[in-house]
Amino acid sequence: MTMDTPLPVLRGERIALRVFCLRDAGFLLAAANDADYQRAAFASAVVPLAPAEIERRLREGHRSPLTGAYGGFELAVTPVNDPPSPIGVAGLYRVDRDNGNAEIGASIIAPEQRGQGLGFETHVLLIDYAFEHLGLHRVYAHVKSSNAPALALCDRLGFRVEGTLRQHRRLADGWLDLRVFGVLRDEWRPRTCPTGDGGPCVG
Ligand SMILES: CC(C)(COP(=O)(O)OP(=O)(O)OC[C@H]1O[C@@H](n2cnc3c(N)ncnc32)[C@H](O)[C@@H]1OP(=O)(O)O)[C@@H](O)C(=O)NCCC(=O)NCCS
Repeated sequence: MTMDTPLPVLRGERIALRVFCLRDAGFLLAAANDADYQRAAFASAVVPLAPAEIERRLREGHRSPLTGAYGGFELAVTPVNDPPSPIGVAGLYRVDRDNGNAEIGASIIAPEQRGQGLGFETHVLLIDYAFEHLGLHRVYAHVKSSNAPALALCDRLGFRVEGTLRQHRRLADGWLDLRVFGVLRDEWRPRTCPTGDGGPCVG
């Protein structure tokens, strides 16, 4: 994947993933400044973002408008029947084409929309895309050892525990361990249509 590769639209049974656009500025701004979500999802300290910065990223077509990261992309997670209304963010980061790996990070932002299988479906769509379309060999996740829902999700997805990055991040009051989970292409069973244009073709 290069910076010019168009980003996909992926559709599952209940969830669709699409490119962020200008009308998502409010959603992204709320997510960028949602301390609870940021604390759960990110290992680094939360840096509040100004509306102008979000809008600049959207106008310039930044591929990761929430984090501002390079070397990957973020897609809006929406209900499949309501594409204008994002409920989450799904990203592949540090896409390394030479070694065929990338880090996955996806979240359902509103707590009341969690625990309904939407995070699972989001990850399945993105992992299928990573293996089937990007031709990657390994997808991995770095999860805080305190993040019980994300640990359970990795287990449910069939990720293997690959280890612990001990005291990998410096916090204001100490150090943070990160658990590394990974799945290899040969271990993964694709669950959605290869084109991503239709509904799921395999249960
Ligand atoms: C982690 C997250 C993406 C999971 O998405 P979700 O839609 O809530 O999870 P799902 O409903 O798809 O559940 C997936 C699995 O996780 C388990 N799970 C979900 N919420 C859980 C919780 N609060 N505690 C323990 N396990 C939980 C479910 O039991 C399910 O496994 P099962 O089907 O075997 O029962 C979501 O909670 C989230 O966005 N959290 C905040 C941000 C974050 O932590 N992002 C991930 C960063 S690595």
